Amino acid sequence: MTTDVGIRIGDMEFSNRLALAPMAGISDPPFRRLCSQLGATMTPSEMITADTRLWKSKKSQRRLSAWRNKTPQIIQIAGFDPDMLASAALKAQNQGASIIDINMGCPAKKVCRRLAGSALLRDPNLVRRILQQVISRLTIPVTLKIRTGWCPESRNGVEIARIAEDCGVAALTVHGRTRACKFSGHAEYETIRQIKKSVSIPIIANGDIDSPEKAKSVLDYTSADAIMVGRGARGNPWIFSKINSYLSDTLQPELPFISVRDIILAHLDSLYSFYGEFTGVRVGRKHLTWYFQHQDSARDFRQRIVRVETAQEQLKLTQFFLDRSPYKEIIEYSSPQGKRVDRIKEQKKTTRQTKDRYEGNSTCRNAKQAAWGTYG
Ligand SMILES: Cc1cc2nc3c(=O)[nH]c(=O)nc-3n(C[C@H](O)[C@H](O)[C@H](O)COP(=O)(O)O)c2cc1C
Repeated sequence: MTTDVGIRIGDMEFSNRLALAPMAGISDPPFRRLCSQLGATMTPSEMITADTRLWKSKKSQRRLSAWRNKTPQIIQIAGFDPDMLASAALKAQNQGASIIDINMGCPAKKVCRRLAGSALLRDPNLVRRILQQVISRLTIPVTLKIRTGWCPESRNGVEIARIAEDCGVAALTVHGRTRACKFSGHAEYETIRQIKKSVSIPIIANGDIDSPEKAKSVLDYTSADAIMVGRGARGNPWIFSKINSYLSDTLQPELPFISVRDIILAHLDSLYSFYGEFTGVRVGRKHLTWYFQHQDSARDFRQRIVRVETAQEQLKLTQFFLDRSPYKEIIEYSSPQGKRVDRIKEQKKTTRQTKDRYEGNSTCRNAKQAAWGTYG
């Protein structure tokens, strides 16, 4: 695969600048493996609690699993207590993690029953203590994922980034929204740009990147070292190979139908092997709905596939539909933007929008409404 340039995190070299976002309930080991095969070199795990007493659960075991993935294992941990986080990180390191990512980007009440995730951004001293403790106990690199701040009135991303650099964090991912914004409005990239200017550790820009053109314009605008794609990869894992081609200025190879068909069917197969048939089929329904979400011709298929109970039936129905489906639709409509647009037209449009959106004019709700949002 042709790539443009890579990124170095601690002593680890990644061959390109693309990361799949950690997404609880989505970026499970099979999906991470698929995205890494299609060009995402960094594929952090879904967040796992710092309370290691819960690690025996099936869910945590799955999240900790590397499952046939050859890329460095990045384990993301969420918590609030420096000692607990450091012990959990050490345990993950001893179990084979190559990098520990600390989650300060999510409202993790569900995980810790305490302020954690992005709530920590309100308490820079606690952020420092957490990072110092975790880093002092580990030999592997520690990275951090944050939002731009608690709320639009308190965007302290630059302050947190400086603390992170000072403590020895090896790379920082920034989602261009505050906690108050949850997932509303548009991601803003001005704070990410300011953060990049303020520190010299690698910065990974995240938020609303759903096309090669957007990836490039975010990289250009923020000067970030890498980008992270989350929701834009749902039902669209080939977005990574498209972005890679676009960034390396190589002609985007058309994914042949046979590849698309094989990718989807192999994804289903991997879900059955990883989860077993019962759960695999249920997880498969979700991904199939995303693969075919934008196709009018898939309406019937989508309705039928969510009722299917066995792996054999699910595979058969999917294969049957794929064999009769205009395959270009799958590729072109799998992106949330719908039809593929002309590169130059899109680039101009995104650059024009850059000024408004990237300069923090995104609309979002206030801090009160930040309350306890959940992902999804
Ligand atoms: C369903 C879902 C689950 C998520 N789970 C996590 C998580 O476990 N850890 C984390 O740091 N961020 C999590 N996120 C946030 C994403 O990593 C990412 O920062 C966010 O979706 C913005 O990127 P995007 O616009 O490319 O989706 C989650 C997001 C979604 C939609």
